[in-house]
Amino acid sequence: MIENPYLAGNFAPVLEEHTAIDLTVAGQIPEELAGRWLRNGPNPVGDVDADTHHWFSGDGMVHGIRLRDGRAEWYRNRWVRSTQVAQQLGEVRSITTRNGDRNFGANTHVSGFAGKTYAMVEGGAAPVELTYELDTVDSTDFGGTLPNGFTAHPKYDPLTRELHAMVYTWPDLVDHIQYVVVGRETQPDGTSAALVNKVVDIPVPQMPMVHDMSLTSNYAVVYDLSVGIDLNLFGRTSIPFGWMPDKPSRVGLLPRSGGAESIIWCDVPPCALFHPLNAYDTVADDGSARVIIDICRYDTLFDSDIRGPLGDSPSKLVRWTINPNAATVSEDVVDGRSHEFPRHNPMVGTMEHRFGYTAGGTSNREATFGSSLLGSTFKTDFRSGNVAEFDHGEGRQGAEPVFVGRQGATDEDDGWLLVTVYDATTNTSDLVILDARDLGAAEVARISLPARIPHGFHGDWVPDTSVAPPE
Ligand SMILES: [Fe+2]
Repeated sequence: MIENPYLAGNFAPVLEEHTAIDLTVAGQIPEELAGRWLRNGPNPVGDVDADTHHWFSGDGMVHGIRLRDGRAEWYRNRWVRSTQVAQQLGEVRSITTRNGDRNFGANTHVSGFAGKTYAMVEGGAAPVELTYELDTVDSTDFGGTLPNGFTAHPKYDPLTRELHAMVYTWPDLVDHIQYVVVGRETQPDGTSAALVNKVVDIPVPQMPMVHDMSLTSNYAVVYDLSVGIDLNLFGRTSIPFGWMPDKPSRVGLLPRSGGAESIIWCDVPPCALFHPLNAYDTVADDGSARVIIDICRYDTLFDSDIRGPLGDSPSKLVRWTINPNAATVSEDVVDGRSHEFPRHNPMVGTMEHRFGYTAGGTSNREATFGSSLLGSTFKTDFRSGNVAEFDHGEGRQGAEPVFVGRQGATDEDDGWLLVTVYDATTNTSDLVILDARDLGAAEVARISLPARIPHGFHGDWVPDTSVAPPE
């Protein structure tokens, strides 16, 4: 057996499900926060092969904290059940299998849509519906309308209230990416249901990893970059995606109203990304169209490290300006330090944003494994170029900062950042609430959790007005 850093420290899975009531809080939770903070990440139930284990593989575990009336009412962590996970936990139940025999965990993102909570993952597996208290209901294909798997990163359009997704499914969709739009339909009982209302097949010469997408008013943006399925990696890593600098690297602008024949492909140098921040359409000084996308971009990825993203180059925050008429992309480095897990105020999605929030390497602290992704919380003002940093303290690593707007706010940054922080000195985690307007201010609140939350991926603030609690 060889050492696998993605199974060590806070990358290691937790072994229990907890339910904790009335959590200890330092500071004051804003009274208007009524809902759940949710987060998903890989947490294998049973033993894994340490030689081949990739950070992105393993059963999903969703963590949630319910806030109401200035209190943290509960914390729950629950494995996302597949039939196999249920069996390993000694339960007798089955989860509907979809898309062939895919049963890998929905382990990457969790959010609310059309009144329900979904755990999500890319690569061909179906979303999994969860109850308000995070128990698994079943997998879903949105009423039979989702032709293949889904994605962990659907993009929400606040104007149309639809989800947009770029789907890839190995090996079924080996020669194309599938763009799907998920709307909502009102049911006879007055509730709404998620339904796919558009599918576009986008041909690609070679299956890339398509972790995320971008969405503007005019375009759905597809990333066909330098990481793809590598047959040489089968058996060497549980996620066989590798660095392919010789593969064409390009960005596609698919008109939202058009078909695959209308996509505009723009070549870029070999690179990779997991996550763009927001994107929007604008015009240049000469009146011609431009698309602006802020991105956490890697120079190399899955090259020397085939079990995760931490052994190659860190990602830096860059701005891509795309000229659709010339099919060109220019890049400006916004901040050369490592940034990941970009978020923005969701109400400016597809429209011009001023601010972005990221996790990244903490300035002036000794680097440790994972500290390029997890550390300080950053706020970037793309208008001024200023990057503010909140240092969570010695041994404390902040994860994805989820922005929650204040009710009635008119300023884009008027709200809070909800950040999970792992404290290596105590081997515990807490949920920290920061004032998004001023990262120089002290924590608004810190909610202590009964167990650590392993380093993982994504989640959302899901207000009770979006997904209602049980009566
Ligand atoms: Fe992601």
